Amino acid sequence: MASTTARPTAARPTTDARHSAPRSRGALLAGPARSTLRSARGVVDRARTVRRWSSTRRTDPLTEWGHHRGTAVDRHYIWRFLDEHRDDVHGDVLEVKGDLYASALGASTVQILDVDPENPDATLIGDLVDPATLPAAAFDAAVVTQTLQYVTDPVTALENLLLALRPGGTLLVTVPSASRLAGQEDLWRWTASGLRQQLTAAVARVEGAELGPVRGPGNSLTCRAFLMGLAAEDLDPRALTQDDDQYPLVVTEVLRRG
Ligand SMILES: C[S@@+](CC[C@H](N)C(=O)[O-])C[C@H]1O[C@@H](n2cnc3c(N)ncnc32)[C@H](O)[C@@H]1O
Repeated sequence: MASTTARPTAARPTTDARHSAPRSRGALLAGPARSTLRSARGVVDRARTVRRWSSTRRTDPLTEWGHHRGTAVDRHYIWRFLDEHRDDVHGDVLEVKGDLYASALGASTVQILDVDPENPDATLIGDLVDPATLPAAAFDAAVVTQTLQYVTDPVTALENLLLALRPGGTLLVTVPSASRLAGQEDLWRWTASGLRQQLTAAVARVEGAELGPVRGPGNSLTCRAFLMGLAAEDLDPRALTQDDDQYPLVVTEVLRRG
């Protein structure tokens, strides 16, 4: 299933082969001269990228998700949200597809859920919508990022996730708002209001469950950059700190089981 690749790491350099300097010419120079040449090329590459992606005629993205150039822009927001709630991630933690975030956030044990029986990392196989998939009251936290868009009934999936939490447990959820599609199984996109409605419905089905604030970080520039396949490192860092609630890129939510 195509998607951005999660990597809770600091900014990585551009890895797109089309933006690498030719080896042979750089190899003729040594030490400071080579590094000056490299940084000059970096400036030129960045200027070329800005020209290519901001053209009013360009309709095709530069890359699919941006992660071949650095950190996919949605992952910048997802990691920022999870990092803000890292104190809630401890003990036995559930995550979907792989241990992309749980261990990095402080989990002691991680169970991986996937509907895909071919996933070698999965320790639990099943559909989130099926109440039999998850054990009851088994986890201190669940980290469910960029998954609900594939689920046929998100409210029931959220209900099942809440029931899988121990009392006091936390469910951290992110869903896409502005994003390219990832195939026929990719079903939904959310606004903060839309997710809040679904979460309210799920919380009403589970005794003691509580809803935290729903947020929609992003702005018109970061949404455009993500849709064009740029990476977070391609942008001025200040652009990544300014949220405009009319232009969410992802929607995030914290739920607790009381
Ligand atoms: C795009 S990946 C994202 C996963 C990961 N948490 C991340 O942030 O990159 C979506 C994952 O959800 C799984 N999935 C899709 N529908 C599901 C369902 N109904 N129940 C459980 N897992 C599902 C897919 O097989 C895939 O591994």
